[in-house]
Amino acid sequence: MGQMRTIGVVTGGGDCPGLNAAIRAIVRSAKLELGWRIIGVTDGFDGLVHPEQCRELTIESVRGILPRGGTILGSTNSRDPFAYPVKENGRTTTKDCSPRCLEAMRQLGIDALIVIGGNGTLTIAHRLSQMGMKVVGVPKTIDNDLQLTDVSLGFDSALHVAMDAIDRLHTTAESHHRVMVVEMMGRDAGWIALDGGVAGGADVILLPEIPFTIENVCAALRRREATGRTSSIIVVAEGVKLPERSASGKPIPKQPGDHVADTLAHAIRECSEKEVRAMVLGHMQRGGSPSPFDRVLATRFGAASVDLVSKEAYGQMVSLQGGKIGSVPLAGAISPVRLVDAESETLRAARAVGISFGDRP
Ligand code: F6P
Repeated sequence: MGQMRTIGVVTGGGDCPGLNAAIRAIVRSAKLELGWRIIGVTDGFDGLVHPEQCRELTIESVRGILPRGGTILGSTNSRDPFAYPVKENGRTTTKDCSPRCLEAMRQLGIDALIVIGGNGTLTIAHRLSQMGMKVVGVPKTIDNDLQLTDVSLGFDSALHVAMDAIDRLHTTAESHHRVMVVEMMGRDAGWIALDGGVAGGADVILLPEIPFTIENVCAALRRREATGRTSSIIVVAEGVKLPERSASGKPIPKQPGDHVADTLAHAIRECSEKEVRAMVLGHMQRGGSPSPFDRVLATRFGAASVDLVSKEAYGQMVSLQGGKIGSVPLAGAISPVRLVDAESETLRAARAVGISFGDRP
């Protein structure tokens, strides 16, 4: 056992399945292997702005959480300590609370902080590390858009939801001879739509990375009809840039608050005689129990992050590359957002099996 240390663990950004499994792995490996003390920082970096909310994590307090979705620590994706919302004279303004976070670390006796997060959270972690905070990152995001890791925690579980939804939509679409448009999460990158769509046997997949036209989407639907298929599944990532015009050249009407699936369904109705239904998977993709892959990944990432702290390899993030766990600089992981490569092997395979991306007639 090394020198007794206290480490903090924080989960930030949108939650996902596997966070609790990672917290458990950190607590168990830090305690069992090194005898360290672990402080759970609550609700993302809010816990460092309000350190009185933080609490000690023990083997007992993480018992039974491996299969549980969400995070026992809470999370936020709307508050940044560098521009923290504060009320002053009845008005809400923002204040840089980062010095307070460093002070909270001292107050809580935390030597180093393990930050489990996606792009936004790890960007904050990187900035805090530049200010001298001892930080190690763990990549998690269902969007899977962090650099320097083949996969982030939570992505695989989200794919299970996406695939299951498409499987279910196939049967109802077939019964009613309908076109189903299903929207998946992915603000900037289309990883869930691509892999979920391929896994679920979608007919059309629309990604933020590949500009498409409604005309091409409708042509793909007509080709299916010509071969006797009476139903189709279109997967669309929430971050797609919708074309300005429909197949007939009319502007596509968009109501405030409409999801892209609704707008797209509306445009497709114009060129298809089929009934079209839209659905949005939304936060279903972030809920539920982690997949076996994510449970194992969380365990490997969690133990590896403790290992990094023990080696004092701060400013690093654990990562999975070519099946092996390693570490990469935080700065390299957060920017730019990792996008789907339109020439990737998965994409070429998807085209080879007849999936349309709406970019070709
Ligand atoms: O980053 C994860 C994510 O689920 C994105 O895919 C999505 O755009 C966003 O979070 C949704 O955020 P909120 O939980 O604030 O609705």
